Amino acid sequence: TGPTAESVAYPNIALVKYWGKRDEDLFLPVTGSLSMTLDIFPTTTSVRVIDGPADVVEFNGVTASGAERTRIETFLDLVRAKAGRGERAMVVTSNAGPTGAGLASSASGFAALATAAAAAYELDLDPRALSRLARRGSGSASRSIFGGFVVWHAGEGEGEAGDQSSFAEPIGGDGLDPALVVAVVNQGTKAVSSRVAMRATTATSPFYRPWAESSVLDLAEMRKAIAARDLPTIGEIAERNALGMHATMLTARPGIRYLSPHSIAILDTVLALRADGIMAYATIDAGPNVKVLCSRADAPHVDATLAGLGDFVTTRTAHIGPAASLTTTSPAPTTPDAA
Ligand code: DP6
Repeated sequence: TGPTAESVAYPNIALVKYWGKRDEDLFLPVTGSLSMTLDIFPTTTSVRVIDGPADVVEFNGVTASGAERTRIETFLDLVRAKAGRGERAMVVTSNAGPTGAGLASSASGFAALATAAAAAYELDLDPRALSRLARRGSGSASRSIFGGFVVWHAGEGEGEAGDQSSFAEPIGGDGLDPALVVAVVNQGTKAVSSRVAMRATTATSPFYRPWAESSVLDLAEMRKAIAARDLPTIGEIAERNALGMHATMLTARPGIRYLSPHSIAILDTVLALRADGIMAYATIDAGPNVKVLCSRADAPHVDATLAGLGDFVTTRTAHIGPAASLTTTSPAPTTPDAA
């Protein structure tokens, strides 16, 4: 039994999306992406190195099994290989938000796991190296290592060179204080994971390459818009980038559609808000929920308008959130003389 490391990490929502890998083992993306870390739905994770024969994983109070457990074990194996250690671990993780519903639970989850596991196995990693480690659990998790606005670089080259250069870093945006109204229309777990959907899209959609090329330009423009603290331009780029990503999925063969009639109703409401002069812009990930970017001042009105659409939608307003952090590290219990 070793020390326990405990961490907390927050989800992030991409304003320029990550959609497609050039290397599935190393989680090297086709394009760079840019996100905003949120201040809601954190994941808390503790990792303790144990004497037992196997990893023990507890997820939201329940012992994990199957694919969920394998994914965490595979990640721990990577941490152990880097640390040159063999002992198993006890992982206890809990998610304050809905899991697997396009609300970035894998991002906060693997950012928290990377942070706690690296500490438990005594890997001395700086935030950049931690973001590269978190990337190997889930690409979007690389960005949740940092707070605020974050870019995840596609990196250059393959193999070791790609791995070294594909990291996340914060990009400022100080003075920008937007709100993101999360409109949850379905709390259920999605039918197709983003991993499977992005693989199908890159392999079969004739619109994938054009989107990826335009996304590179969107990223460059987004960085300028953030530096200029230009919220309407940030919103415009985010909305077109997300709709373009969904276009690549719709045109995969067979097509993949995450948008539901309720998502479309919310998109229509966003257009109506803009017609009323309110700067509100939508983004959607691999699920039917819609996230609406607006100013902090407009957020109560935007939130109330979306919540007022009917029982099918519940809302939650988020703002800029913090970096992943280690909350406690308790030393290994000293062996009492009696032992
Ligand atoms: C639509 O990071 O969940 O949210 O790397 O396979 O674990 P894996 O995928 P994941 O994909 C996120 C896709 C997205 C866009 C984004 O967050 O950039």
